[in-house]
Amino acid sequence: MHPGDLDLESAYDPFIDGAWTPPADDSYDEVVNPATEEAFTTVARCTEPDVDAAVAAAREAFAEWREMPPAERGRLVYAIGQQIRDHLGELAALESLDQGKPLSQAKSDIESAARYFEYYAGFTDKLEGRSIPLGPDKLDFTIREPYGVSAQITPWNFPGNLFARGTAPALVGGNAVVLKPAPQTPLSSLRLAELCAETDVPDGLINVVPGGGETGAAVTSHEGIDTITFTGSVPTGQTIMRTAAETITPVTLELGGKNPALVFPDADLEATAETVATAIFTNAGQVCSAADRALIHESVYDEFVERIVSLADDYELAPGDEDADMGPLASAEQYEKVTSYIDVGQSEGATLATGGTPPDRRGYFVPPTVFTDVSSEMRIAQEEIFGPVLCVIPFSTEAEALEIANDVDYGLVSGIFTSDVSRAGRLARRLEAGNVYVNDWFVDTQQTPFGGYKRSGIGREKGLEALESYVQSKNVAINIGDGGGNLPGA
Ligand code: NAI
Ligand code: MG
Repeated sequence: MHPGDLDLESAYDPFIDGAWTPPADDSYDEVVNPATEEAFTTVARCTEPDVDAAVAAAREAFAEWREMPPAERGRLVYAIGQQIRDHLGELAALESLDQGKPLSQAKSDIESAARYFEYYAGFTDKLEGRSIPLGPDKLDFTIREPYGVSAQITPWNFPGNLFARGTAPALVGGNAVVLKPAPQTPLSSLRLAELCAETDVPDGLINVVPGGGETGAAVTSHEGIDTITFTGSVPTGQTIMRTAAETITPVTLELGGKNPALVFPDADLEATAETVATAIFTNAGQVCSAADRALIHESVYDEFVERIVSLADDYELAPGDEDADMGPLASAEQYEKVTSYIDVGQSEGATLATGGTPPDRRGYFVPPTVFTDVSSEMRIAQEEIFGPVLCVIPFSTEAEALEIANDVDYGLVSGIFTSDVSRAGRLARRLEAGNVYVNDWFVDTQQTPFGGYKRSGIGREKGLEALESYVQSKNVAINIGDGGGNLPGA
């Protein structure tokens, strides 16, 4: 479907307890198309009473959901995946319009959203415990139980996809969900919640309360929330962690990265340059696992720069519905942030090898930009820019490459480009990152655990690991002796 063919409402309410529910204080914010800078609809800004209603609905749905036979729950979760597939074109068009990304990238994000539900669905009846040998007079075993209501606070770079990344394992663990999407991109989450409610799941199983930081804080501080999953910036992650300390609520945080691609002279340079270009310019660089820093051995530095600049210059920019190589940034704030980092890079003395100057057109477009002669202490090499800006840093030895790679507060992903398998293995062990790619990038699928070392976060998304955030273990000890139990100290 083309975004122009979408049947849009003029205002979107929160989706609570299986229905569109007018917000308590009747306030709405504009939703902007980043390719035109024009508002095309409005969305409710939820306040505490809306969050109360969403949490209450989720608690009620949870009571029903957790008691359902696991295989039945699995069938329902799988049906959500099918429902998403059945509306793939519409959801992709909505995502592209709201977020700015090219239509085919939006399609791939939404298809991957369906995959999350399909992948996790089969696990509802395999959340097994262990039995622990305490001797002949005891029967001891663990059971894995849901927490209750999972809060999901999502960002604007992959809104529909991240809806699924968190919601699918939460449901499979037996939890209900209250999700707050980012104010820049609320629409796909609202539509996804409505589509989920059209399957046979209990009303209130997935509630969506749009709004900004205040709405998010009302969700994360709510007494009725049992676990929090957040993806976004480090400062907001810190705020959420502090809030969670009040109620002793577990948090899973995915806080972005400043990810290095280490390129050695024995790499296939043509393929490597193509991979790095895709890894930094996809979704206009607004990807937590983007290749932000290219660390290039001095002997192939000039050749790599030449190749990457030529690839960058070939990118075609256009609104998402024209499905070019790159769309605009998702919002005015992000445009300001990225362009100001381009100024910072120049004033720090890095060389602007290409890009940097936004095209003279409406929309938050920033071209693929490559800085060379970057050194590790520069701000552009340390701070997350979250735009199509690559920093190229030279190195001369493997040890130096490793030192530069680890010389940041972040530790989400990293990549090694070499044909020497021993070198790849050596570095994979020593890179401070939750994911290491070798001669590849973005290889994370539903099946592979994903998350950060250091300030890139806590806990893991994706894979079977993600389920750990949504189930807690209970140990049950039964005295099966024919006398009393032998209490310690008795
Ligand atoms: P943010 O971390 O403030 O926003 C992410 C989500 O948190 C949004 O839904 C937002 O409304 C919500 N939020 C904000 N304050 C909150 C609070 N006090 N309590 C609960 N929820 C709250 O990030 P923002 O401002 O949208 O982007 C700033 C930077 O963060 C980006 O430039 C980028 O560097 C980074 N970022 C990283 C992402 C990642 O994938 N790890 C995704 C989005 C942003
Ligand atoms: Mg928008």
